[in-house]
Amino acid sequence: MPFKLTDEQIMIQTMVRDFAREVLLPTAMERDRTKEFPAENLRKMGTLGLMGMMVPPEYNGAGVDTLSYVLALQEVAYACASTAVVMSVHNSIVCETINRFGTEEQKQTYLKPLAAGDVIGAFALTEPEAGSDPVSQLTWAERDGEHYIIHGTKRFITSGKHAGVTIITAKTDKTKRHKGISAFIVKKGAPGFTVGKTEEKMGLCASDTTDLVFEDCRIPAGNLLGQEGDGFKIAMTALDGGRIGIAAQSVGVAQAALDAAISYAKAREQFGQPISKFQGLRWMLADMATELEAARQLTFSAAAMKDRGERYTMQASIAKLFASEMVNRVTAKALQIHGGYGYIKEYPVERFYRDARVFTIYEGTSEIQRVVIANHLLEDRYVGTLR
Ligand code: CAA
Repeated sequence: MPFKLTDEQIMIQTMVRDFAREVLLPTAMERDRTKEFPAENLRKMGTLGLMGMMVPPEYNGAGVDTLSYVLALQEVAYACASTAVVMSVHNSIVCETINRFGTEEQKQTYLKPLAAGDVIGAFALTEPEAGSDPVSQLTWAERDGEHYIIHGTKRFITSGKHAGVTIITAKTDKTKRHKGISAFIVKKGAPGFTVGKTEEKMGLCASDTTDLVFEDCRIPAGNLLGQEGDGFKIAMTALDGGRIGIAAQSVGVAQAALDAAISYAKAREQFGQPISKFQGLRWMLADMATELEAARQLTFSAAAMKDRGERYTMQASIAKLFASEMVNRVTAKALQIHGGYGYIKEYPVERFYRDARVFTIYEGTSEIQRVVIANHLLEDRYVGTLR
Protein backbone atom coordinates (compact mmCIF):
# COMPACT_ATOMS: atom_id res chain seq x y z
CA MET A 1 0.00 0.00 0.00
CA PRO A 2 1.80 3.17 -1.20
CA PHE A 3 0.15 5.38 1.45
CA LYS A 4 2.15 4.57 4.56
CA LEU A 5 -0.18 3.74 7.41
CA THR A 6 0.78 4.00 11.08
CA ASP A 7 0.71 0.96 13.37
CA GLU A 8 -2.48 2.34 14.97
CA GLN A 9 -4.19 2.74 11.59
CA ILE A 10 -3.26 -0.82 10.60
CA MET A 11 -4.55 -2.09 13.95
CA ILE A 12 -7.91 -0.33 13.44
CA GLN A 13 -8.17 -1.62 9.87
CA THR A 14 -7.48 -5.20 11.00
CA MET A 15 -9.90 -5.03 13.93
CA VAL A 16 -12.73 -3.66 11.76
CA ARG A 17 -11.99 -6.10 8.93
CA ASP A 18 -12.28 -9.05 11.35
CA PHE A 19 -15.49 -7.70 12.86
CA ALA A 20 -17.09 -6.81 9.51
CA ARG A 21 -16.33 -10.14 7.86
CA GLU A 22 -17.35 -12.22 10.87
CA VAL A 23 -20.44 -10.29 11.97
CA LEU A 24 -21.77 -8.08 9.14
CA LEU A 25 -20.95 -10.00 5.98
CA PRO A 26 -22.66 -13.34 6.65
CA THR A 27 -26.08 -11.68 7.07
CA ALA A 28 -25.78 -8.83 4.53
CA MET A 29 -27.65 -10.68 1.78
CA GLU A 30 -30.47 -11.59 4.16
CA ARG A 31 -30.71 -8.00 5.42
CA ASP A 32 -30.98 -6.79 1.84
CA ARG A 33 -33.97 -9.12 1.39
CA THR A 34 -35.77 -8.40 4.71
CA LYS A 35 -34.82 -4.69 4.77
CA GLU A 36 -34.16 -5.07 8.50
CA PHE A 37 -32.28 -2.11 10.00
CA PRO A 38 -28.98 -3.41 11.52
CA ALA A 39 -29.72 -2.01 15.00
CA GLU A 40 -27.97 -4.76 16.94
CA ASN A 41 -24.84 -4.63 14.76
CA LEU A 42 -24.70 -0.83 15.11
CA ARG A 43 -24.83 -1.23 18.89
CA LYS A 44 -21.88 -3.64 18.69
CA MET A 45 -20.09 -1.11 16.48
CA GLY A 46 -20.69 1.48 19.21
CA THR A 47 -18.90 -0.68 21.76
CA LEU A 48 -15.97 -1.03 19.33
CA GLY A 49 -15.70 2.77 19.04
CA LEU A 50 -16.95 2.90 15.45
CA MET A 51 -19.85 5.30 16.02
CA GLY A 52 -17.89 8.33 17.19
CA MET A 53 -14.57 7.64 15.56
CA MET A 54 -13.32 11.22 15.21
CA VAL A 55 -15.00 12.51 18.38
CA PRO A 56 -12.67 13.19 21.35
CA PRO A 57 -12.72 10.60 24.15
CA GLU A 58 -14.24 13.09 26.64
CA TYR A 59 -17.44 12.88 24.57
CA ASN A 60 -17.32 9.07 24.33
CA GLY A 61 -15.51 9.08 20.98
CA ALA A 62 -12.51 7.06 19.80
CA GLY A 63 -10.51 10.22 19.03
CA VAL A 64 -8.86 8.79 15.91
CA ASP A 65 -7.99 10.59 12.66
CA THR A 66 -10.01 10.70 9.44
CA LEU A 67 -7.69 8.24 7.70
CA SER A 68 -8.43 5.62 10.38
CA TYR A 69 -12.13 6.33 9.94
CA VAL A 70 -11.85 5.89 6.15
CA LEU A 71 -10.09 2.53 6.63
CA ALA A 72 -12.84 1.38 9.00
CA LEU A 73 -15.65 2.56 6.75
CA GLN A 74 -14.13 0.79 3.73
CA GLU A 75 -14.15 -2.47 5.71
CA VAL A 76 -17.76 -2.03 6.83
CA ALA A 77 -18.83 -1.18 3.24
CA TYR A 78 -16.99 -4.25 1.95
CA ALA A 79 -19.22 -6.38 4.18
CA CYS A 80 -22.52 -4.47 4.14
CA ALA A 81 -23.09 -1.20 2.29
CA SER A 82 -26.40 -0.56 4.10
CA THR A 83 -24.61 -0.57 7.45
CA ALA A 84 -21.84 1.60 6.00
CA VAL A 85 -24.15 4.44 4.95
CA VAL A 86 -25.67 4.59 8.43
CA MET A 87 -22.15 4.68 9.90
CA SER A 88 -21.03 7.32 7.40
CA VAL A 89 -23.88 9.80 7.94
CA HIS A 90 -23.72 9.24 11.71
CA ASN A 91 -19.95 9.79 12.01
CA SER A 92 -19.01 12.20 9.22
CA ILE A 93 -22.02 14.42 9.22
CA VAL A 94 -23.81 14.25 12.56
CA CYS A 95 -21.08 13.61 15.17
CA GLU A 96 -18.46 15.75 13.43
CA THR A 97 -20.90 18.63 13.07
CA ILE A 98 -22.00 18.68 16.70
CA ASN A 99 -18.39 18.27 17.78
CA ARG A 100 -17.33 21.20 15.62
CA PHE A 101 -20.25 23.61 15.95
CA GLY A 102 -22.07 22.47 19.11
CA THR A 103 -22.04 24.17 22.51
CA GLU A 104 -20.70 22.31 25.55
CA GLU A 105 -24.28 21.60 26.60
CA GLN A 106 -25.19 20.22 23.16
CA LYS A 107 -22.11 17.97 23.24
CA GLN A 108 -22.97 16.67 26.72
CA THR A 109 -26.62 16.07 25.81
CA TYR A 110 -26.45 14.87 22.20
CA LEU A 111 -22.88 14.05 21.17
CA LYS A 112 -22.10 11.71 24.05
CA PRO A 113 -24.90 9.20 23.38
CA LEU A 114 -24.31 9.49 19.61
CA ALA A 115 -20.58 8.77 19.90
CA ALA A 116 -21.25 5.81 22.21
CA GLY A 117 -23.59 4.37 19.59
CA ASP A 118 -26.55 4.52 21.97
CA VAL A 119 -28.54 6.62 19.49
CA ILE A 120 -28.29 6.97 15.71
CA GLY A 121 -27.87 10.33 13.99
CA ALA A 122 -29.52 11.68 10.82
CA PHE A 123 -29.00 14.80 8.72
CA ALA A 124 -31.96 16.52 7.11
CA LEU A 125 -31.15 19.07 4.40
CA THR A 126 -32.96 17.74 1.30
CA GLU A 127 -36.63 18.54 0.64
CA PRO A 128 -39.16 17.43 -1.98
CA GLU A 129 -38.35 20.53 -4.10
CA ALA A 130 -34.78 21.19 -2.92
CA GLY A 131 -32.10 18.57 -3.64
CA SER A 132 -29.02 19.84 -5.46
CA ASP A 133 -30.08 23.40 -4.59
CA PRO A 134 -30.59 23.37 -0.81
CA VAL A 135 -30.72 27.18 -0.62
CA SER A 136 -34.22 26.95 -2.14
CA GLN A 137 -35.51 24.94 0.83
CA LEU A 138 -38.95 25.82 2.19
CA THR A 139 -38.74 24.47 5.74
CA TRP A 140 -38.75 27.45 8.11
CA ALA A 141 -38.41 28.12 11.80
CA GLU A 142 -39.55 31.00 13.98
CA ARG A 143 -38.39 31.98 17.44
CA ASP A 144 -41.06 31.86 20.15
CA GLY A 145 -39.56 32.83 23.52
CA GLU A 146 -37.34 30.01 24.68
CA HIS A 147 -38.29 27.81 21.70
CA TYR A 148 -38.10 27.57 17.94
CA ILE A 149 -41.11 26.31 16.03
CA ILE A 150 -40.27 24.41 12.84
CA HIS A 151 -42.57 23.90 9.82
CA GLY A 152 -41.83 21.83 6.72
CA THR A 153 -40.96 18.46 5.21
CA LYS A 154 -37.55 16.90 4.62
CA ARG A 155 -37.04 14.09 2.11
CA PHE A 156 -34.65 11.14 1.45
CA ILE A 157 -33.33 11.18 5.00
CA THR A 158 -30.95 8.32 5.74
CA SER A 159 -31.89 6.61 9.06
CA GLY A 160 -34.92 8.94 9.35
CA LYS A 161 -37.01 6.29 11.10
CA HIS A 162 -34.32 5.04 13.48
CA ALA A 163 -32.48 8.23 14.36
CA GLY A 164 -32.66 9.51 17.93
CA VAL A 165 -31.02 12.81 16.97
CA THR A 166 -31.40 14.70 13.68
CA ILE A 167 -29.62 17.82 12.48
CA ILE A 168 -32.05 19.80 10.35
CA THR A 169 -31.79 23.04 8.42
CA ALA A 170 -34.58 25.61 8.19
CA LYS A 171 -34.99 29.20 7.05
CA THR A 172 -35.08 31.65 9.95
CA ASP A 173 -35.05 34.63 7.55
CA LYS A 174 -36.95 34.07 4.32
CA THR A 175 -35.74 37.35 2.84
CA LYS A 176 -32.18 36.04 2.62
CA ARG A 177 -30.54 33.31 0.48
CA HIS A 178 -28.13 30.99 2.23
CA LYS A 179 -27.57 33.47 5.06
CA GLY A 180 -31.23 33.01 6.09
CA ILE A 181 -30.71 29.28 6.81
CA SER A 182 -30.09 27.97 10.35
CA ALA A 183 -29.29 24.50 11.68
CA PHE A 184 -31.00 22.81 14.62
CA ILE A 185 -30.71 19.63 16.63
CA VAL A 186 -34.06 17.83 16.88
CA LYS A 187 -34.65 14.91 19.21
CA LYS A 188 -36.88 11.98 18.36
CA GLY A 189 -40.24 12.56 20.03
CA ALA A 190 -40.12 16.37 19.83
CA PRO A 191 -43.74 17.61 19.72
CA GLY A 192 -44.88 18.05 16.11
CA PHE A 193 -42.07 15.92 14.65
CA THR A 194 -43.11 12.74 12.83
CA VAL A 195 -41.52 10.31 10.41
CA GLY A 196 -43.29 10.33 7.04
CA LYS A 197 -43.20 7.74 4.26
CA THR A 198 -40.34 5.26 3.98
CA GLU A 199 -38.99 4.92 0.44
CA GLU A 200 -38.87 1.60 -1.46
CA LYS A 201 -35.37 1.67 -2.92
CA MET A 202 -33.28 -0.11 -5.51
CA GLY A 203 -30.39 -0.76 -3.11
CA LEU A 204 -29.09 -0.12 0.41
CA CYS A 205 -32.30 -1.83 1.46
CA ALA A 206 -31.40 -2.31 5.13
CA SER A 207 -30.87 1.42 5.58
CA ASP A 208 -34.16 3.31 5.84
CA THR A 209 -34.73 6.48 3.80
CA THR A 210 -37.71 8.54 4.92
CA ASP A 211 -39.54 11.82 4.92
CA LEU A 212 -39.44 13.84 8.14
CA VAL A 213 -42.43 16.05 8.83
CA PHE A 214 -42.38 19.12 11.10
CA GLU A 215 -45.83 20.46 11.97
CA ASP A 216 -45.42 23.32 14.43
CA CYS A 217 -42.57 21.29 15.89
CA ARG A 218 -41.39 22.95 19.11
CA ILE A 219 -37.77 22.58 20.16
CA PRO A 220 -35.72 24.40 22.84
CA ALA A 221 -33.96 27.55 21.57
CA GLY A 222 -30.75 26.00 22.94
CA ASN A 223 -30.87 23.44 20.11
CA LEU A 224 -29.80 26.03 17.53
CA LEU A 225 -26.40 24.95 16.14
CA GLY A 226 -24.05 27.91 15.81
CA GLN A 227 -25.80 31.24 15.23
CA GLU A 228 -28.93 32.03 13.24
CA GLY A 229 -27.87 32.18 9.56
CA ASP A 230 -24.95 29.74 9.97
CA GLY A 231 -26.96 26.73 8.78
CA PHE A 232 -25.88 26.63 5.15
CA LYS A 233 -22.18 26.85 5.95
CA ILE A 234 -22.61 24.22 8.68
CA ALA A 235 -24.32 21.92 6.15
CA MET A 236 -21.66 22.50 3.47
CA THR A 237 -18.85 21.88 5.99
CA ALA A 238 -20.63 18.70 7.10
CA LEU A 239 -20.91 17.54 3.48
CA ASP A 240 -17.18 18.08 2.87
CA GLY A 241 -16.47 15.37 5.45
CA GLY A 242 -19.48 13.33 4.34
CA ARG A 243 -18.19 13.16 0.78
CA ILE A 244 -14.94 11.55 1.98
CA GLY A 245 -17.19 9.00 3.70
CA ILE A 246 -19.06 8.23 0.46
CA ALA A 247 -15.76 7.87 -1.38
CA ALA A 248 -14.64 5.36 1.28
CA GLN A 249 -17.92 3.51 0.98
CA SER A 250 -17.42 3.31 -2.81
CA VAL A 251 -13.92 1.88 -2.39
CA GLY A 252 -15.19 -0.76 0.04
CA VAL A 253 -18.00 -1.95 -2.25
CA ALA A 254 -15.70 -1.91 -5.31
CA GLN A 255 -13.13 -4.04 -3.46
CA ALA A 256 -15.85 -6.55 -2.58
CA ALA A 257 -16.98 -6.66 -6.24
CA LEU A 258 -13.41 -7.08 -7.53
CA ASP A 259 -12.70 -9.89 -5.04
CA ALA A 260 -15.92 -11.65 -6.03
CA ALA A 261 -15.06 -11.30 -9.73
CA ILE A 262 -11.55 -12.71 -9.22
CA SER A 263 -12.86 -15.73 -7.27
CA TYR A 264 -15.54 -16.42 -9.85
CA ALA A 265 -13.16 -16.03 -12.81
CA LYS A 266 -10.75 -18.53 -11.26
CA ALA A 267 -13.46 -21.09 -10.43
CA ARG A 268 -15.66 -20.90 -13.53
CA GLU A 269 -14.56 -23.05 -16.48
CA GLN A 270 -15.68 -22.60 -20.06
CA PHE A 271 -14.10 -23.88 -23.27
CA GLY A 272 -12.06 -26.29 -21.14
CA GLN A 273 -10.30 -23.73 -18.92
CA PRO A 274 -10.96 -21.21 -16.13
CA ILE A 275 -12.39 -18.02 -17.65
CA SER A 276 -9.57 -16.13 -15.85
CA LYS A 277 -7.29 -17.43 -18.64
CA PHE A 278 -9.10 -15.35 -21.27
CA GLN A 279 -7.41 -12.08 -22.03
CA GLY A 280 -10.68 -10.17 -22.38
CA LEU A 281 -11.53 -10.92 -18.75
CA ARG A 282 -7.96 -10.48 -17.47
CA TRP A 283 -7.93 -6.97 -18.87
CA MET A 284 -11.28 -6.21 -17.28
CA LEU A 285 -9.88 -7.29 -13.89
CA ALA A 286 -6.74 -5.23 -14.44
CA ASP A 287 -8.77 -2.11 -15.30
CA MET A 288 -11.03 -2.64 -12.27
CA ALA A 289 -8.03 -2.91 -9.92
CA THR A 290 -6.34 0.12 -11.47
CA GLU A 291 -9.24 2.49 -11.02
CA LEU A 292 -10.08 1.08 -7.60
CA GLU A 293 -6.53 1.81 -6.45
CA ALA A 294 -6.71 5.35 -7.86
CA ALA A 295 -9.95 5.97 -5.96
CA ARG A 296 -8.45 4.60 -2.74
CA GLN A 297 -5.47 6.94 -2.99
CA LEU A 298 -7.72 9.96 -3.71
CA THR A 299 -9.82 9.08 -0.67
CA PHE A 300 -6.75 8.69 1.58
CA SER A 301 -5.33 11.92 0.26
CA ALA A 302 -8.51 13.94 0.97
CA ALA A 303 -8.68 12.39 4.47
CA ALA A 304 -5.00 13.23 5.12
CA MET A 305 -5.57 16.85 4.03
CA LYS A 306 -8.49 17.10 6.45
CA ASP A 307 -6.33 15.62 9.22
CA ARG A 308 -3.60 18.19 8.50
CA GLY A 309 -6.17 20.98 8.88
CA GLU A 310 -5.84 22.04 5.22
CA ARG A 311 -8.72 23.26 3.06
CA TYR A 312 -9.97 20.03 1.49
CA THR A 313 -13.38 20.82 -0.04
CA MET A 314 -12.17 20.29 -3.63
CA GLN A 315 -10.25 17.11 -2.81
CA ALA A 316 -13.30 15.65 -1.03
CA SER A 317 -15.39 16.33 -4.15
CA ILE A 318 -12.69 14.88 -6.44
CA ALA A 319 -12.50 11.72 -4.31
CA LYS A 320 -16.31 11.41 -4.13
CA LEU A 321 -16.77 12.02 -7.87
CA PHE A 322 -14.10 9.58 -8.98
CA ALA A 323 -14.77 6.85 -6.40
CA SER A 324 -18.55 6.84 -6.83
CA GLU A 325 -18.30 6.68 -10.63
CA MET A 326 -15.55 4.06 -10.36
CA VAL A 327 -17.66 1.74 -8.17
CA ASN A 328 -20.48 1.86 -10.71
CA ARG A 329 -18.10 0.76 -13.48
CA VAL A 330 -16.41 -1.87 -11.29
CA THR A 331 -19.64 -3.46 -10.03
CA ALA A 332 -21.02 -3.52 -13.60
CA LYS A 333 -17.89 -5.33 -14.83
CA ALA A 334 -17.96 -7.74 -11.86
CA LEU A 335 -21.56 -8.59 -12.75
CA GLN A 336 -20.61 -9.07 -16.41
CA ILE A 337 -17.77 -11.43 -15.48
CA HIS A 338 -20.31 -13.54 -13.55
CA GLY A 339 -22.46 -13.85 -16.68
CA GLY A 340 -25.99 -15.11 -15.94
CA TYR A 341 -24.99 -15.84 -12.32
CA GLY A 342 -24.30 -12.14 -11.85
CA TYR A 343 -27.93 -11.35 -12.50
CA ILE A 344 -29.40 -13.60 -9.82
CA LYS A 345 -29.64 -12.95 -6.11
CA GLU A 346 -27.70 -16.04 -5.09
CA TYR A 347 -24.47 -14.16 -5.86
CA PRO A 348 -23.65 -10.90 -4.06
CA VAL A 349 -22.58 -8.93 -7.15
CA GLU A 350 -26.13 -8.01 -8.12
CA ARG A 351 -26.52 -6.40 -4.64
CA PHE A 352 -23.20 -4.57 -5.02
CA TYR A 353 -24.40 -3.22 -8.37
CA ARG A 354 -27.71 -2.01 -6.90
CA ASP A 355 -26.14 -0.61 -3.70
CA ALA A 356 -23.50 1.36 -5.63
CA ARG A 357 -25.98 3.12 -7.90
CA VAL A 358 -26.89 5.83 -5.39
CA PHE A 359 -23.28 6.76 -4.62
CA THR A 360 -23.15 9.14 -7.60
CA ILE A 361 -26.36 10.74 -6.34
CA TYR A 362 -26.44 11.23 -2.57
CA GLU A 363 -24.33 13.76 -0.67
CA GLY A 364 -24.18 15.72 -3.91
CA THR A 365 -24.59 14.27 -7.40
CA SER A 366 -21.59 13.83 -9.70
CA GLU A 367 -22.77 16.98 -11.48
CA ILE A 368 -22.67 18.95 -8.19
CA GLN A 369 -19.16 17.60 -7.41
CA ARG A 370 -18.06 18.96 -10.81
CA VAL A 371 -19.60 22.34 -9.90
CA VAL A 372 -17.64 22.38 -6.62
CA ILE A 373 -14.39 21.31 -8.33
CA ALA A 374 -14.75 23.84 -11.16
CA ASN A 375 -15.58 26.65 -8.69
CA HIS A 376 -12.34 25.93 -6.83
CA LEU A 377 -10.26 25.63 -10.01
CA LEU A 378 -11.44 29.04 -11.15
CA GLU A 379 -10.77 30.81 -7.84
CA ASP A 380 -7.84 33.22 -7.87
CA ARG A 381 -6.28 31.49 -4.85
CA TYR A 382 -6.38 28.06 -6.55
CA VAL A 383 -3.07 28.33 -8.45
CA GLY A 384 -0.90 25.33 -7.69
CA THR A 385 -2.95 23.67 -4.97
CA LEU A 386 -3.21 20.38 -6.84
CA ARG A 387 0.56 20.06 -7.15
N1 CAA B 1 -17.59 24.97 3.23
C1 CAA B 1 -17.89 26.16 3.82
N2 CAA B 1 -18.63 27.12 3.20
C2 CAA B 1 -19.08 26.84 1.96
C3 CAA B 1 -18.82 25.63 1.30
C4 CAA B 1 -18.03 24.67 1.99
N3 CAA B 1 -17.74 23.50 1.43
N4 CAA B 1 -19.40 25.66 0.09
C5 CAA B 1 -20.02 26.84 -0.02
N5 CAA B 1 -19.82 27.57 1.11
C6 CAA B 1 -20.27 28.93 1.39
C7 CAA B 1 -19.75 29.92 0.33
O1 CAA B 1 -18.44 30.37 0.66
C8 CAA B 1 -20.78 31.01 0.39
O2 CAA B 1 -20.51 31.82 1.52
P1 CAA B 1 -20.36 33.44 1.42
O3 CAA B 1 -21.66 33.97 0.93
O4 CAA B 1 -20.02 33.87 2.81
O5 CAA B 1 -19.27 33.67 0.44
C9 CAA B 1 -22.05 30.25 0.69
O6 CAA B 1 -21.68 29.00 1.27
C10 CAA B 1 -22.91 30.02 -0.52
O7 CAA B 1 -22.12 29.36 -1.48
P2 CAA B 1 -22.56 29.22 -2.99
O8 CAA B 1 -23.04 30.57 -3.47
O9 CAA B 1 -21.46 28.54 -3.73
O10 CAA B 1 -23.84 28.28 -2.87
P3 CAA B 1 -24.77 27.67 -3.98
O11 CAA B 1 -26.19 27.90 -3.61
O12 CAA B 1 -24.30 28.13 -5.33
O13 CAA B 1 -24.52 26.08 -3.83
C11 CAA B 1 -23.43 23.97 -4.01
C12 CAA B 1 -23.29 25.50 -3.81
C13 CAA B 1 -22.01 23.42 -3.88
C14 CAA B 1 -23.99 23.63 -5.37
C15 CAA B 1 -24.33 23.38 -2.87
O14 CAA B 1 -25.64 23.84 -3.01
C16 CAA B 1 -24.34 21.86 -2.82
O15 CAA B 1 -23.41 21.25 -2.31
N6 CAA B 1 -25.44 21.22 -3.32
C17 CAA B 1 -25.63 19.79 -3.16
C18 CAA B 1 -26.36 19.48 -1.90
C19 CAA B 1 -26.10 18.09 -1.42
O16 CAA B 1 -24.98 17.59 -1.48
N7 CAA B 1 -27.12 17.46 -0.89
C20 CAA B 1 -26.96 16.15 -0.34
C21 CAA B 1 -27.97 15.95 0.71
S1 CAA B 1 -27.38 15.17 2.15
C22 CAA B 1 -27.36 13.53 1.86
O17 CAA B 1 -27.46 13.04 0.78
C23 CAA B 1 -27.08 12.78 3.12
C24 CAA B 1 -27.61 11.42 3.20
O18 CAA B 1 -28.59 11.18 3.86
C25 CAA B 1 -26.82 10.29 2.60
